Amino acid sequence: MCGIVGYTGPRQAYPVILKGLKRLEYRGYDSSGVALLNGGLHVYKKKGKVADLEETLVGKNMEGHIGIGHTRWATHGEPNDRNAHPHLSQSGRIAMIHNGIIENYAQIKQDLIAKGYTFKSDTDTEVLLNFIDDIRIKNECPLEEAVRIALRRVVGAYCILVIDNEDPETIIAARKGSPLVIGIGKGEHFLASDASPIIEYTKEVVYVNDYEIAIVRPDELILKNLGNEKQTPFITKLDMDLTAIEKGGYDHFMLKEIFEQPHTIYDCLRGRLDAENGNITMSGIQKYAEQIINANRIIIIACGTSWHAGLVAEYVIEELCRIPVEVEYASEFRYRNPIIHKGDVIIAISQSGETADTLVAIEKAKEQGAIILGIVNAVGSSIARASHAGAYTHAGPEIGVASTKAFTAQLAVLTMAALTLGLQKGTLERDKYLLLCKELAAIPEKVDVILKLDSQIKALAEKYKDAADALFLGRGYNFPVALEGALKLKEISYIHAEGYPAAEMKHGPIALVTEQLPVVFVATKDSYHEKVVSNMQEIKARKGKVIAVITEGDTVTPTLADDIIVIPPAHEVVAPMLSVVPLQLLAYHVGVAKGYDVDKPRNLAKSVTVE
Ligand code: F6R
Repeated sequence: MCGIVGYTGPRQAYPVILKGLKRLEYRGYDSSGVALLNGGLHVYKKKGKVADLEETLVGKNMEGHIGIGHTRWATHGEPNDRNAHPHLSQSGRIAMIHNGIIENYAQIKQDLIAKGYTFKSDTDTEVLLNFIDDIRIKNECPLEEAVRIALRRVVGAYCILVIDNEDPETIIAARKGSPLVIGIGKGEHFLASDASPIIEYTKEVVYVNDYEIAIVRPDELILKNLGNEKQTPFITKLDMDLTAIEKGGYDHFMLKEIFEQPHTIYDCLRGRLDAENGNITMSGIQKYAEQIINANRIIIIACGTSWHAGLVAEYVIEELCRIPVEVEYASEFRYRNPIIHKGDVIIAISQSGETADTLVAIEKAKEQGAIILGIVNAVGSSIARASHAGAYTHAGPEIGVASTKAFTAQLAVLTMAALTLGLQKGTLERDKYLLLCKELAAIPEKVDVILKLDSQIKALAEKYKDAADALFLGRGYNFPVALEGALKLKEISYIHAEGYPAAEMKHGPIALVTEQLPVVFVATKDSYHEKVVSNMQEIKARKGKVIAVITEGDTVTPTLADDIIVIPPAHEVVAPMLSVVPLQLLAYHVGVAKGYDVDKPRNLAKSVTVE
C-alpha cells in the first residue's frame, strides 16, 4: 500500500526520495509524487510507475535539501495525476503525503466547503491537509500545533508527512495505524513507511508509535504525543543489510524469496531448535506457556497467506497440544462481537506486522482480556509491538508481493511452539516430540532438494499456462496448502483458482471438471493419502487433468496423474513446509510465462494498511 519517504539534511533530497520510492514499489501502488522545498514548494506527481514520474522530471531543477515522496495505492478517487500525492494546501503553503484512510473526511470536507474551500482531488488526504491549514490560519499557530489539533479530531488511520514553505528544515510527521520509521543520520533524518529506503544510510531508527507526532529537523528529532507531551525516542538498530532488499541476480524478488527458503527456515529454527538434544527455546512463548496450556481455546487471527499458516497451525496445535483452535479472518473477527473470555489466547500471524485488520482485531481482543501472541516477520512492526509476547519468524524482508518465505517461516515457528507446548502439557510423548524435532530440523535440506525441480516445474507451467481455471485439492495438513497454492496462482497469474478439501470437491466443485481443467492434488504420503488417491480417481473418471505433488517412493499415484512433482518424504506435521514449495514455483512460472509482473501483481499491495 502507499509508501512514504521524507528527507531533511545536507544531501540533495530528490535522489534519496526517488531511490526510496523505488525501494517501496513492492508495496503496490498506482501513482507517485514528490514535493521539494527550494525557494518555494515544488510538487510533481504522475500516474503509473515511479519510473514514469522520474522521466517527466528529467531536465528539471530538482534541487533542495528537504522533501517528501509518495507512492499511492488508490482508496478515495481513481489513480490519476490529480489524486496522486503530495497535495498542496489551498493557501499554497503546505504540502502533505498520507498513508491510510480518514473516515470522517466527508463531514470535514463539507465544513471546509462551507468556508469557501475548493478541492482539486477526490482524496481524503487533501481534506485533512486543508483542515490542518485552516486550523493553522485560524489559530495563527505553528504548523505542529495545527497538526496536533487536527489529528485529535480525525477518525481513521494515517501516517502523514507535512512540509511548510515557510520552514525550510522541518518535516512534521505523525502516525496512527500506519507505519512510520525515522532513520537517524549524522545531521540528517530519513523518514519512511518501512526501513527499506533507510537501510543504506543508517541502521539507527526510531519506530514512531500511534498518536505520536515527530518534529524532524536535520539535527533534531522531537517526539510528542497528541497531548503535546514530549516522548523519549526509542532508538533501535536495524538487523538487516542492503542485500536483503535487492534481487541478487534473480529475475524477480518472488523467485529469490522462494529460493531463500532453505536459509530462512534454517534461520528461523537456529538458536531455538536443538534437535539432537530435544530442546526448543522460545522465550516469548515460554513466558505465557502456563496460560496457553491451560487455555480453553486458542483463536488464530490473520489474513491471506498468514491465515493459511494459521489453518495449518490449527491441525498441528490440536494434534500435539489437544487445545481447541479457531482460525479467524481478522477482518471478520473484528467486526462481529467476538466472544472472548479473559485468559483466551490469541495468536496473530502477520508477515508485515502492519495489516490493519489484524492490528485492530488484536486491539479488540486485548480490550477483552485476551493474551496476544504475535508471530510476525517485520521486526519492530505495529503487530509485534501490540502483542504481549510472541516470536519473530526471521525470514528477512519479503519484497515480492506474493508471500512465500514468510509462510514457511510462520509454519516453522508455529510448529516449534506446538511441539514445546505439547511436551509441557503432556499431550505429546517425548519420543514423538524427539522425532518431530528431527523432522523439523531436516526441512531446510529437503526444501533445497525441491528447489532443484525448478526447471521441471517451469515446463509444467508452460504446459498449463493457458488454463482458464484451476482446482487445488488436499486433505488434512495439506488442505491449507491447497488453499495457499490456489491463492498463489490466482494472484500471480490471474488464473481463476480455487482450493478445497479434496473430499469436499464432490459437494460442488466437481461440476467444474472437464478435460480442460487442471486439478492440482497435494497428495504426499500421510494418514489421508489413500483417501486423496480415491478423490484423484474421481477426477480422472471425469477426464480432468491431474497434477500431483507426491512423495518419493509412491508408486500408485503416478499411474493416475497426468503430471507428477516428486518431493522428499516428511512427517505429515511438517510436510506443508515442503509441499507448498512446488506450488509457489508453479505459480511463479505460470505468471512469468504469461508475461506478468509477478513482483507487483495488479491491484495488490504488500502491506495492507487499510481495512
Ligand atoms: C498473499 C499475501 C497476502 C498476505 C495478507 C496478510 O500472497 O501476501 O494474502 O498474506 O495480506 O499480510 P500479512 O501477513 O503481512 O499480515
